Amino acid sequence: MTAPLPPAPLLPLADGAVIPQIGFGTYKIPPADTARLCRTAIDAGYRHLDTAALYGNEAEVGEAVRTSGLPRDELFVTSKLWNDDHGYERALRAFDATMERIGLERLDLYLIHWPVPSQSLFVETWRALIRLRDEGRVRSIGVSNFHPHHLRRLIDETGVTPVVDQVELHPWLPQDEVRAFGDAHGIRTEAWSPLARGRMLAEPVLAGIAADHDRSVAQVVLRWQVQLGNIAIPKASSEARIRENLDVFDFALTPEQMDAVAGLANGERTGRDPDLD
Ligand SMILES: NC(=O)c1ccc[n+]([C@@H]2O[C@H](COP(=O)([O-])OP(=O)(O)OC[C@H]3O[C@@H](n4cnc5c(N)ncnc54)[C@H](OP(=O)(O)O)[C@@H]3O)[C@@H](O)[C@H]2O)c1
Repeated sequence: MTAPLPPAPLLPLADGAVIPQIGFGTYKIPPADTARLCRTAIDAGYRHLDTAALYGNEAEVGEAVRTSGLPRDELFVTSKLWNDDHGYERALRAFDATMERIGLERLDLYLIHWPVPSQSLFVETWRALIRLRDEGRVRSIGVSNFHPHHLRRLIDETGVTPVVDQVELHPWLPQDEVRAFGDAHGIRTEAWSPLARGRMLAEPVLAGIAADHDRSVAQVVLRWQVQLGNIAIPKASSEARIRENLDVFDFALTPEQMDAVAGLANGERTGRDPDLD
């Protein structure tokens, strides 16, 4: 086995916990492959795994954690509440079901997956997550795909600020407003599809920067994420790519290169606008 890479830096969260800046995303990884790929990631040096009820692979992520040989507190595990489980009581039951599947005593981070504004239930759902946190069943609570105006409602109506907002974020969609709101309120911005599902990798500007550093385009994009202060959770299916995506802490983009990547912003999403659901 190849030697593990140094682990990603731990970023402090506003509730006193810490989160590894690079995690392993598991969306669309079939359950039959999930435990193996998560173990590959852990062996490579990852200490952060991202799953969701929607992904159908929580059990296999839990299995990878339980069989990793690492103390539980060295791994950071996130899961998410799906859209048909909004509402106070339903959210509590959804969390129980996630914990039953994942087979762990405690979760590190539980997120509301989407605000689904048409249901108008996300504040009630948030109250359930606050209870779960207060009961110690989850260390930290946050949201995903929340625009600043959704975050504002949570804060105004419950007084409790999410510690993370996990949003689609890559050079085409840098989410400046979400990041500025997060910086002002102690909310860490976490990038999902940090490589725009791989579509980002054909950008010629990025290829030029990659050549300057003798790195891959994926590494340039993830390094840009790191230098912005984002958490990022790339998904990959081979050991070589899994390792490559964590190996971004020994080089740096220049301010000019950061600007060149920022110049790619065009608002293009690979997923839905959260306000449309
Ligand atoms: N909260 C949400 O609503 C939400 C939504 C979407 C995703 N997510 C989370 O974010 C994670 C990552 O997002 P994502 O999986 O959609 O997209 P992504 O990480 O941006 O991109 C994954 C794609 O890029 C390819 N890739 C990865 N590393 C590469 C490398 N070093 N070189 C070349 N190609 C590479 C992968 O190919 P191979 O797999 O073939 O290696 C895969 O096709 C998900 O797994 C999930 O955990 C959350």
